[in-house]
Amino acid sequence: RKGKTPEEVVKRYLQKVRNPPEEDCTICMEALVGPSGYKGPGVGSISRGESVGRLAQCGHQYHVQCLVAMYNNGNKDGSLQCPTCKTIYGVKTGNQPPGKMEYHVIPHSLPGHPDCKTIRIIYNIPPGIQGPEHPNPAKAFTARGFPRHCYLPDSEKGRKVLRLLLVAWDRRLIFSVGTSSTTGESDTVIWNEVHHKTEFGSNLTGHGYPDPGYLDNVLEELKAQGIIEDEIQQ
Ligand code: APR
Ligand code: ZN
Repeated sequence: RKGKTPEEVVKRYLQKVRNPPEEDCTICMEALVGPSGYKGPGVGSISRGESVGRLAQCGHQYHVQCLVAMYNNGNKDGSLQCPTCKTIYGVKTGNQPPGKMEYHVIPHSLPGHPDCKTIRIIYNIPPGIQGPEHPNPAKAFTARGFPRHCYLPDSEKGRKVLRLLLVAWDRRLIFSVGTSSTTGESDTVIWNEVHHKTEFGSNLTGHGYPDPGYLDNVLEELKAQGIIEDEIQQ
């Protein structure tokens, strides 16, 4: 958010805690009643009386300085995620590089979904240079295996997943830049935490059909990124 300091962003989601409990802050592992264990740039401006905050929705408590440090380590998009229960405050976005997402219906059925056609999603991301939100800013990144083709049943639930994936794409949450766990290559485009089915008629990689639990699993993964059906109306 332009104009908002990290401290202002964090405080937007916090309630004041006058008497902190005799517990440790799970970010720095130091007592909540004592100072933040986080030593780094940009701390020290928070006065004693407001050193502990309670996240308004989930109620988890932390040193305010620890939350500010955590926020500064992320992509500073104005959102905050509780490190304990993963509740999201604001709108979570990712660091997916620029590219294209397209989809169309193909007149064939997926294994396990004999009664409907298939949605094919095509992701295309070219290689490029990492931005400040990436692990190694100004360094090149590679992009392997693009265009990547993914499949959903063209059923009501499959179309719902597609709508949510389109939101995830806009919020830059489908891909990330990092080290591929499959190839070991670093500074490359990798899938983020939302699983896709990249095999159509077979299941050699485990990323194919049939998989009766897939649509529910991916809906859960989207929810963990803060993407649920209600949000589409906004
Ligand atoms: N299809 C779909 N998802 C996959 C695949 C695949 N072939 N391989 C891995 N994943 C999932 C993993 O289960 C993990 O959750 O992506 C996540 C990140 O894994 P990485 O190996 O780090 O991701 P990436 O390098 O992007 O994927 C490797 O996927 O689509 C293919 O062409 C791509 O061969 C490459 C492979
Ligand atoms: Zn702390």
